[in-house]
This record gives sequence, structure tokens and C-alpha cells, in this order.
Amino acid sequence: MVQRPPIPRLDQLAYGGDYNPEQWPAEVWAQDVALMRAAGVNLVSVGIFSWALLEPAPDEFDFSWLDKVLGLLHDGGIRVDLATPTAVPPAWLRRTHPDTRLVDRTGAVLGGGARQSFCPSSPAYAQAAARITEAIAARYADHPALALWHVHNEYGGVNALCYCAGSTEAFRDWLRGRYDDDLAALNAAWGTSFWGQRYGDWTEIEAPTAAPTAVNPAQQLDFLRFSSDAHLANFRRERDILRRHTPDVPVTTNFMLANCKTLDYWRWADEVDVVANDHYLQAERADNVIELAMCADLTRSVAGGRPWLLMEHSTSAVNWQPRNIAKRPGELARNSLAHLARGAESVLFFQWRAARFGAEKFHSAMVPHGGTGTRIWREVVALGTEVLPRLDELRGTTVVADAAILWDWQSWWAVELEWRPSVDLDFRERVEACYERLWRDRLTVDFAHPERSLDDYPLVVVPSLYLTTPAAADNLRRYVARGGTLLVSYFSGIVDATDTVHPGAYPGALRELLGLTVDEFLPLRAGETVTLAQGLTGDVWAEAVELAGAEAVLRYTDGPAAGGPAVTRHSYGAGTAWYVSTRLDAAALGSVLPRVYAEAGIAPPDGVPGGVELVRRSGPAADYLIAINHTGDDAVLPAAGTELITGASCADTVAVPAGQVRVVRRE
Ligand code: GAL
Repeated sequence: MVQRPPIPRLDQLAYGGDYNPEQWPAEVWAQDVALMRAAGVNLVSVGIFSWALLEPAPDEFDFSWLDKVLGLLHDGGIRVDLATPTAVPPAWLRRTHPDTRLVDRTGAVLGGGARQSFCPSSPAYAQAAARITEAIAARYADHPALALWHVHNEYGGVNALCYCAGSTEAFRDWLRGRYDDDLAALNAAWGTSFWGQRYGDWTEIEAPTAAPTAVNPAQQLDFLRFSSDAHLANFRRERDILRRHTPDVPVTTNFMLANCKTLDYWRWADEVDVVANDHYLQAERADNVIELAMCADLTRSVAGGRPWLLMEHSTSAVNWQPRNIAKRPGELARNSLAHLARGAESVLFFQWRAARFGAEKFHSAMVPHGGTGTRIWREVVALGTEVLPRLDELRGTTVVADAAILWDWQSWWAVELEWRPSVDLDFRERVEACYERLWRDRLTVDFAHPERSLDDYPLVVVPSLYLTTPAAADNLRRYVARGGTLLVSYFSGIVDATDTVHPGAYPGALRELLGLTVDEFLPLRAGETVTLAQGLTGDVWAEAVELAGAEAVLRYTDGPAAGGPAVTRHSYGAGTAWYVSTRLDAAALGSVLPRVYAEAGIAPPDGVPGGVELVRRSGPAADYLIAINHTGDDAVLPAAGTELITGASCADTVAVPAGQVRVVRRE
């Protein structure tokens, strides 16, 4: 039983959200604090978008309103996650430094009047951001309400990539670092003998802007790495200023795990004191709670299993999806507790009070436009005052995972560049299908970087790892040789970090481990399917697999690979490596996985009705079972102990009413 160190300065489950008092007259602030207290709010994020108000002209500061707000919050016993407001530079920065403007890949200069419209590599931006950060840190370092620093907002969101002249220069500098100032090394890594792209001088290298045809994929990958690092440099600059003023106050920034493709969060997670995540339901999807669980598991995993903060989610509808579906009664609590179940130690919302103006006025909030007479407000109060205080003992306990799925941003970038064998190759789709299978089988998943140790897991799933480094391949071989069970999806192990095909037959990095070669990729036409033994159907992709030590578990019965192996199994050292060479959806994977689980020694819990989500937590004093009933029917599950939300004691079963959550401390 393990206990994780608590998040410094947070001594209870945090409840609250983004608070934008600057959008409201000062008379509302005291009322806000009173309502926050009534709702059980104990933490709010303040100042995220207020640079233009705090520094109305270059180097002229006005902290008067923020002083008052922080004072009121402190008097009300509400702690503050204080932001550096650097996600939106004031309009004067664009005016005085036009070189801070964001340029897209077609060369268009993007406008202001929105947010995050600045170049991440701009020295003028960096200087101005450091100045406002320094001013805020100096002023509020000793403020008694300060619990946490919230740097910026959602790095890598809308301004992930900038193609301006300054970014191009910064890209060249970054490349000099990566290739040790050796242009020949860059030419080799980028394969510039292809299409005569050889560079004779660093100044000839450009950002991968719009071009007449496909741009060099290695150049594109390096530009993505460079861009992730450019934002990271901005984060580090602010973090270091904050740490200098307040070494004991944790520093975070809100990630967008699973939904932000542009930042390599494995690298980022090592740089923050606490991992924090924003998650918004894909409201129209019927299975959106599975996606929620996946994002929460990925967040916990990049946090190294440590507690993390749910920095934003919504009380009901958002404003930016095509159809902004409202949450149904009870959904707010179920979503919140699903994050908590998977390791979050906060339930924070965007936003405290619904804005009356601006682009997000139709976004839900803790205090809707209709105020305290609304269903949402009642649910907000119930969660904050009746439920969360009873779940505080979950803090510091550990989520128990049954298996790992590999996740690699760089491989995601690579597989979705242009001119792949099929436009239907989709990294996230493969991860989601595998995740859904395990979720439906009530198995809890950690995500893992392909080069990090996998020894804790009896089963590792590799949904699509097109880019597989030699280090990752070694790691997987070592894992299986020592007794692990591995399940690999098609189009994995194909290229290295420079998008160069591994030598020899496909899948170069994994063929020895899988005991097979792929003679030819056989992508399928749109809508075309292939049939496998047992009547399973695949689509998108097939392969001509040649066995070289593996056995065929299922063969294709029709299609371009008819008669050939579709699903294979290879004993390797003390373990087993499975391979699936076509796209099976989560339902079809259900016919393959039972044998894989059995080999891995995993027994999915049975007797649990479909649509009831289960998570186990382990702590030094007790173990917990969290059950979330997403269905309209009451459920009964085996569990003995004390149910924390109702206080009921359970002799050997716990009732989980339709749409409710139950947390059993097991005895
Ligand atoms: C987030 C963002 C918030 C707010 C929210 C709306 O991505 O950080 O500021 O815009 O979306 O859903």
C-alpha cells in the first residue's frame, strides 16, 4: 500500500474554479465570496487573462483591484491559485512590437482581439512576460491566500506553431543545438539527398511553411519538437522567477492531456511541481465518459502516478463545440468524481460566474446567468458541501492499474504527417479503441512512455507506435523477455525518430520480438472490410504477414490478405508478444483480449453491469472501491466496508443507484 505525498499547500480536496472578477463590478465581489463559501469552494484561479488590466501601459502597473480581490478571498478563507497573465499580452505589445504577432504556415499574420495571438519565440514577448511575472511574484509572494501559481493558460493551444521570421531564426538556433552545430548531421538526419534538399548554410533552413507539395517529414518533426520546447522555455522562464520569490509555493500550468497534440507532455510533466489538466467532455459522444477516463488516466500517468489537479472542466455545456449539449442532472457530479477516482485531488471548473459578454458568454459556470435559483447551482453546492468533504481521505492514495498502454506524442505527430500509406491511420483512434476495450472490461490503465520501465505491468498494449526508437524497441524486448505480455497494433515499429524506415523488412524495430515480417501493407478502401476467422471484421488496414517464429491465432478469410495471419502470438523469452494486423474496433478486440488477459494473469472483475465504471485505490490505511453508475438502472456490486458518501456500512454488497457514485472503504 502506497501513499503519495500530498500536494503542498493544499490540505483538502480543492473545489472551485477560474474566477474572473475583473469582468464584474466590484459590488459583486463580496457576494461572490459569500456564495463561494456557501458552495464549499476553497480554491479559485485568479488573474489568468488580466495582463492588460494589471499593466495598462508598458511598465505601468495597477494592482489595486487584484489587491482587493485577494483580500476579500483571504478574509473568506478561500485560497488562491494565482495566475501569471501571460496567455494574452496587452494590445500595446502588438502595437509596440509587431514582431510579436503570430504567423500561420501560409504566412498570414493572425489578428488580435482574440487570445493567445502571439509568437512563442518572440524576444519582446519573453521580456514583457518576464516583467509582469516578476511584478506579480514580488507583490504577492507573501500573500496569505496564495496556495499555488498558475503559469499562463493552456500552452500549445491556439498558438502552438508560429512561422514568422523570428520563429525561423529560433528554429535554426534550436537545430544547431540538436545537431551540435554540424550541418552534415542535419542533412543526414533529414535525408536531404532526397529531392535535392541539401543545405549548405544554416540560414537556408526554413520553418516548414506551406509549400507546393509534401514538406520533408524529418524537418516537420523537428519543427514540432522545437515548437514544444519554445513554449516550454516560456514556461520555465516564468516558473524560475516564481520559484525565486516563493520557493515553497508549487508552480503549475494547465495541460490539455490527450487533446493537445502539439506539446510533448512527457517532457513538460518533469518541469511542473504539480500536474494540472483541463478536460471538456466531447458532449455529443454517447461514450464520452470513456474518453474522460482515458484523459484522467493519461494525466495521472504523465504525473508519474502522483496526485494531480483537475484545473478546468464544465458544470454543463461549453460554448465551442458544434452542438453544446447540456449535462443531465447528476452528470456534473459523476464527471467530477470520475476524475477524482483516477487521481485528481481537485474539482475545479471553468468558471465561477458565467460571463455576460465576450466570446464565452454561453459557457456554463458554477453560478449560471440564472444565479442561485438554478439546477446547476444546486448541484454545485451539493457536490462541494455534501460529497467532497466526505471523500477527503482519498487524498494521497494510489490508483491501482491493471495494464499499461503506450502513448508517445512524437509518434502521434509522425504517423499523421502527409503521405502515409492511408489517410485512415489515426493514432488517437487506436489508443481510444484499446482503452475502450480495457475500460469495458473494468481494467484500469496507466499510460507509459515507450522508453520508460514497464516492469510493473503484466500487460502492455501498443496501439500504434509508428515511430519506434531503438531505445523503445529494446525496452519492449526486455519487457517481454522478462515475462511480460505485449499486444501490438499494426503500423508499429516502422520508423526511427527522423522518420527513417528501420532497415530490412517491416516492422523493423519489432519484427524479432513479434516473430514475423510484413511482406506488404495492404490498406483498405474507404468502407471496405476484411473478415477474420470467428467472423470478426476489420477495416482500414490489412497486411501480408509472414510468420517467422510466431503462430497465427486468427487468419484472414477474405480480402487482400486472405489465408494469411491476421492476429499472431509469439513466445519470446519468458513472455509473449501478440500482434493485430488490421483495425479491430473495441467490440472485435473483445474476442481477442480474453486469451491475452489470461496469459498476462489478469482476471477482469465479473458480475458488474455494463456502464458501471470501477476504480480501485490503495492507501496506507485502507483500500477503496469507487463505482460510478453511468446507467439509468440501479446496480449492486460485491464490496464489504463503509460507503463514504452515504456513511452506510456494506456487509458484502454496495448498492449504486442509477446515475450515482459510491466509494467503499474496504474492510
Ligand atoms: C479552456 C480555457 C478556458 C476556457 C475554457 C472554455 O480551454 O483554458 O479559459 O476558455 O476552455 O471551455
